[in-house]
Amino acid sequence: MTHPVLIAAELQSLLEPDDLAGLAVTWLAADEPTPRGDFVALVPLLSRWVGGTELKHLPNLRIVANVAVGYNNVDVVAAEMRRVIVTNTPDVLTDATADLTWALILACARRLLEGVALIRSGEWRGWHPEQLLGVELNGRTLGLLGAGRIGQAVGARARGFGMRVVYAARTEKPEFERLTGATRVDRTRLFRDSDVVSLHVPAVPELKGVIGRDTLAQFKPGAILINTSRGDLVREEDLAAALEEGRLGAAGLDVYADEPAVHPRLLAAPRTVLLPHIGSATRDTRRRMAATALANVHAVLRGDPPLTPVFR
Ligand code: DGY
Repeated sequence: MTHPVLIAAELQSLLEPDDLAGLAVTWLAADEPTPRGDFVALVPLLSRWVGGTELKHLPNLRIVANVAVGYNNVDVVAAEMRRVIVTNTPDVLTDATADLTWALILACARRLLEGVALIRSGEWRGWHPEQLLGVELNGRTLGLLGAGRIGQAVGARARGFGMRVVYAARTEKPEFERLTGATRVDRTRLFRDSDVVSLHVPAVPELKGVIGRDTLAQFKPGAILINTSRGDLVREEDLAAALEEGRLGAAGLDVYADEPAVHPRLLAAPRTVLLPHIGSATRDTRRRMAATALANVHAVLRGDPPLTPVFR
């Protein structure tokens, strides 16, 4: 028996024939609206909104297997009401995203883009003792807002750079503290004490805009903000203002509130490193994300529990 399923067309080259065994696939292009039909599974990218209307148009749907660890593109309440399972792709992208977070931290601290621009401009006149002076990370404090899998992986890498780690999270993480020497603090202290603040919380409604004028005012002068989580955690106008006024040292961003649009003030702001949402962008990781999503589909269609449900 083959099951009719809808899968994001962009995943085609990442999937193996075994991933698709027993499925009658309709490939769904990014710019196509989600169709109506008797599909039993939907495998969307994080750029596709799956809300009440989409779910209503798919009355036989049993699972939305989101190809991302974040699932703010899915109305999970509407899904739960319709008894549709929602899954994500945790774990498989932790290292790739933590690595990219560090790429941003280092690029901001050591002014990498300005160095590249200087070389390319043909204006470099040679070594100078005060050229492009950056921030030494050794002995400074990394503040993690959120210490789930990715936050902890970012914190673990901090040891190699000699950074002290503080974190703000709903629950204590004793094993993380034991391994890294990290200390749990409240948010106010995190903002006040950190030289680098890195965001690793989900974009749940209560955290939207958590980094805005008031919180940025609590940051150490010259601190660096890193966001590889979700764009709407940050009020982008306020961030641009803090950079323009020189209060914030730099911002390294991989995510934006209105992707793929980037706020024009952020584009124009000084001391930014802006990347196009490539936190998980290694071939191995993207392959594992696609495979995890399909493994969830097969489990649910077999009548087994999903491997990585976002709610139980
Ligand atoms: C995720 O999985 O949520 C990431 O943002 C994708 O790179």
